Amino acid sequence: MSDQKQRVFSGIQPSGNLTIGNYLGALKNWVAVQQENENFFCIVDLHAITVPQDPKVLAEKIREVAAIYLAVGLDPRHCTIFRQSAVPGHTELAWLLNCVARFGELSRMTQFKDKTVRGGSDSASAGLFTYPVLMAADILLYNADLVPVGDDQRQHLELSRTIARRFNHTYGETFVVPKPMILSAGARVMGLDDPTVKMSKSAGSPGHYIAILDEPDVIRKKVRRAKTDSGSEVTATADKPAITNLLDIYSATTGRTIPELEDEYEGRGYGDLKRDLGDAVAEALAPIRTRALELLSDPAELDSLLAAGSEKAREASAPVLRDARSRMGLG
Ligand code: TRP
Repeated sequence: MSDQKQRVFSGIQPSGNLTIGNYLGALKNWVAVQQENENFFCIVDLHAITVPQDPKVLAEKIREVAAIYLAVGLDPRHCTIFRQSAVPGHTELAWLLNCVARFGELSRMTQFKDKTVRGGSDSASAGLFTYPVLMAADILLYNADLVPVGDDQRQHLELSRTIARRFNHTYGETFVVPKPMILSAGARVMGLDDPTVKMSKSAGSPGHYIAILDEPDVIRKKVRRAKTDSGSEVTATADKPAITNLLDIYSATTGRTIPELEDEYEGRGYGDLKRDLGDAVAEALAPIRTRALELLSDPAELDSLLAAGSEKAREASAPVLRDARSRMGLG
């Protein structure tokens, strides 16, 4: 065993408002293990433009994600924080891998099918279709060993592994085949208005999600208005998806176990649970919000931090890209 650190790569799209789902399901856990690994945390702006974005809003959202990465406690000494579009290797490798991935494989991606049920695939951008190949390029470009992803990205990560193996088999050993990183405390947060769908930052009304940058009073109000189940007992059971979701959020926010919380609310109603949960979430997010707003008040400083991250990312990825090109005869 060498004590070389494992490479970790992950990314979040700068679209919509980052939610407590991004925090509890991803960011909080990235912070917890950041010192054990060598991390690349990307702001995947090229993925965001696979669906239409307002250019001005996008530019703001990119900084906002950077500010949130820092405000939750990601430390540039352990993490390279950068934007995808600032490192041209992502698009270049994506093209090479587009010629390795197969049309049929991309056709089977459930996220593409889900995102195009309503509008039909004919009018979807070609970028939305090849989105998983760009994601493979993100990961393979850094020889990442581990990729923390939620359930909804499992299939994309599996495709990245297939592409890496196929490339290695065809052109010779080039890429590390990445593994999913299982985050022990990772919570899967569902919508406040509909506990059957994952909380999303780009869908639904504001009552659907809690944004990381929501004001404390807004958070309390959203929790108060969250959907509940019939009955009155505070238990995490299959017939109570809404209360289960609230308890999951409570548990992930405070570190207290579900049985502990069920005990505490025994004989009390949903109202008590919501009041305390609202307070707990508001309290947990308040310092993050304050710090993020502070960082956002100095855009030049954020931009220079991102520039430094991009420089490091370019350096780390250049040899891998060179190798992939030359293996394909493009040296
Ligand atoms: N597709 C991912 C998502 O929407 C974001 C992403 C892009 C990503 N590139 C990545 C995640 C590479 C992990 C690794 O959640």
